[in-house]
Amino acid sequence: MNVLIKNATLVNADTSERADLLTRDGIIERIAPNIELPDDSSVEIINAAGHYVIPGGVDVHTHLNIDVGIAQSCDDFYSGTVSAACGGTTTIVDHMGFGPAGCSLHHQLERYHEFARDKAVIDYSFHGTIQHIDDSILEEMESMVLEEGISSFKLYLTYGYKLDDSEVLAALERLNQLNALTCVHPENDGAIRFLKEKILSQGSNAPIYHALSRPPECEAEAVGRMINLATLAGDAPIYIVHLSNGIGLEYIRQAHQRGQAVFAETCPQYLSLDINKYNSSSNEGGASDHPYDEGLKYIMSPPLRDNYHQNQLWQGVMDGTISTVATDHCAFTMAQKHAGRDGFQYCPNGIPGVENRVPLLFSEGVMKDRISINHYVELVSTRPAQLFGLYPRKGLIAEGADADLVIIDPEREVTLSQRLMHGRSDYCPYEGMRLQGYPVITISRGEIIVRDGHFTGTPGHGEFIYRKPLDEGFRYWSK
Ligand code: URP
Ligand code: ZN
Ligand code: ZN
Repeated sequence: MNVLIKNATLVNADTSERADLLTRDGIIERIAPNIELPDDSSVEIINAAGHYVIPGGVDVHTHLNIDVGIAQSCDDFYSGTVSAACGGTTTIVDHMGFGPAGCSLHHQLERYHEFARDKAVIDYSFHGTIQHIDDSILEEMESMVLEEGISSFKLYLTYGYKLDDSEVLAALERLNQLNALTCVHPENDGAIRFLKEKILSQGSNAPIYHALSRPPECEAEAVGRMINLATLAGDAPIYIVHLSNGIGLEYIRQAHQRGQAVFAETCPQYLSLDINKYNSSSNEGGASDHPYDEGLKYIMSPPLRDNYHQNQLWQGVMDGTISTVATDHCAFTMAQKHAGRDGFQYCPNGIPGVENRVPLLFSEGVMKDRISINHYVELVSTRPAQLFGLYPRKGLIAEGADADLVIIDPEREVTLSQRLMHGRSDYCPYEGMRLQGYPVITISRGEIIVRDGHFTGTPGHGEFIYRKPLDEGFRYWSK
């Protein structure tokens, strides 16, 4: 089926245009004023008057199928991508989870191809995950980038597979040679271990202590360290995932003033939820019989911060210091989260959110006049596509690009609720939040896969996308 969208406002990161748009065989074939209905019964006409049409959302931070050691996340590549599609996302780049200790990058990749094949309903790719460094890992990075289409890699400075500084330098240097982007989860592992032991030894194990054991300084220190290590590695471009605090943001701003290619991502949870959630007992959205349950819903790393940091992050979004908004979707059910009733240290880290990003940023960003509609498109679609080698196939409305399109009705009011969500988690972190504007149609490579909140797509429609290495233009910072 092909689609003719009439009377639309087509929005890109740099332009907005009133025009019609015709798709053919999954591609945008034509954009022009007043396109006549082709002599062809396989075209569905959509009247998009009063609506925005944006390039499909690109979420470059999800964790589907991930095993975090104490639990397996509840969304796989079917449920997770259905949820993404229903929220206006048409491409994800998932962070591959850990294989057995010592496993190769190619082994991880094979597992993830198996997880996603025949299940994904939207297009996808994966970031490599560096679990350890040795000669063979450094060697196989080349074929991952040049043959497998994996042009970004993630490293962790905390958790079980953390790298030390010499390993980080080795990874940065090699990935820089290969024009691959290094993504980093920055938290100071030693500081967290020290604070956690101290807090637990005092008998404090409620959800709020998860946040207090990982204060903003732990994250900011690791952001600053990564910026310096990237310089030492010959000005390697880096991508900071899930930035949650204003101190680290300031370090990034300073790096930009020196022209350093440091790209920062934040997430809707850090822009719209705060640390009070850990003390909350409001129990919105479900009956509960334990005082920790409401707080356990928000156990993630880094944790939610106070309003100071939230305001700083919005400032960073508005002034361009923050390049992208992704979700870090890592969903668990409440039954899984209940492990934290015995102490926050037992609660699996992560929250659902892949369905909420595109509508939430539209409502909180565009409708509240914090960002323009074009800047919004840049944050949720164009810039992530550019940084991760998907552009101009993704992240752009133009003739020849993939027909991945989302139609947003700015008049539609939605109160977020678990009842409306399509993933497998049984809670919504944004329960009760009122949004102004919502996606009403999602189109993936020319197929209408969501209409008015109803999923109409098929498993296996999603294709693996070979990603290109980092574009030369992103080797140095410019807005
Ligand atoms: O708590 C989180 N964010 N879980 C997912 C893994 C990660 O750190 O990104
Ligand atoms: Zn992380
Ligand atoms: Zn993550």
